[in-house]
Amino acid sequence: MADDSTQSFKAVDLVVQLSPALKTKPHVVDFGTVFTDHMLTVEWSVTEGWQAPFIRPLANLSLHPACSSLHYGIQLFEGFKVYRGDDSRLRLFRPMLNMSRMANSAKRACLPAFDQTELLECIRRLVEIDQDWVPRSDSASLYIRPTFISTEPSLGVKRPGRALLYVILCQAGSYFNSEADAISLWADPKYTRAWKGGTGDCKMGGNYGCSLFAQYEAGDYGCQQVLWLYGQDHQITEAGTMNIFLHWINQDGEEELATPPLDGIILPGITRRSILELTRKWGEFKVTECYLTMSQLCSALKQQRVKEMFGSGTACMICPIGHIVYLGENLHIPCRDKHSVKLTSRLTKELTDIQHGRTPSDWTFEV
Ligand code: COI
Repeated sequence: MADDSTQSFKAVDLVVQLSPALKTKPHVVDFGTVFTDHMLTVEWSVTEGWQAPFIRPLANLSLHPACSSLHYGIQLFEGFKVYRGDDSRLRLFRPMLNMSRMANSAKRACLPAFDQTELLECIRRLVEIDQDWVPRSDSASLYIRPTFISTEPSLGVKRPGRALLYVILCQAGSYFNSEADAISLWADPKYTRAWKGGTGDCKMGGNYGCSLFAQYEAGDYGCQQVLWLYGQDHQITEAGTMNIFLHWINQDGEEELATPPLDGIILPGITRRSILELTRKWGEFKVTECYLTMSQLCSALKQQRVKEMFGSGTACMICPIGHIVYLGENLHIPCRDKHSVKLTSRLTKELTDIQHGRTPSDWTFEV
């Protein structure tokens, strides 16, 4: 098995077959429903290693019905965006962090290793080919979805002998179809998103597919997303598909921005990491990775110590939280600090300005 990146595919071997007919580009609507003209595919087998990467017209895949990604969920994905700046240049945001998270998920899924820089260069070429699809907008972008699946055509539960890495691109407008600017969460300890020793810190499809049942139950309680709790003390872990942040006055009376630590059950979000790095650089309040429980949150709400709460992720970027339904109680989360600009608004602006090249930053990677 190609278990080190020296045996990886190389961008220099890319084969490009352009689509003879380009699609008309509709106005950006829902997230992830309209795909561009081309895709990248790279096949791997234990006997032949990686094949040359191939950019070709977007098409259906042909898979053996025994394929182990379909039966046992041996697969993973990534998600990041390309933004068009006011200067018309296209920029990716910290894409090497996605590459290394993808390599990590691949290792955990027993899928083969690849060279992260070579994959990024292949993606850059794909984006360059479909560049007309990148909208000129602060609220829309082109979403890049690298996907890595086992194509092992047999039913044994085993390390795959065949795999396919592919990348598709789609339009990304706003993620939540909601007019309200803050979302509602339903917190019930009967559901768990991830557990210690599991794969909650990997971007595997199963983590998301398994969340759906609870997500629809949240809808029955009038909420949009699930607030995922963990353990006897109802630790706050994530919200829907997002990392979670609490801006509050902590038990010691200090202003703090807190988010749960990366202890294996939390997805190491790139937006999460960027928020931590930005706010630590501001040096205006304490920034902490620490455990937060529902009882701490409830007391802080009673004592009016909560300033804001929000989710973060690639798809939504930053999403304010307006209320939480927990053990039959409807907890109202303050959404604004009367005396200052909301933290969510300030973070959204700073990140948007970086992504669109208004603030020069080594976090961006030009296509
Ligand atoms: C993200 O926002 O990072 C996501 O992965 C969302 C995706 C599951 C649609």
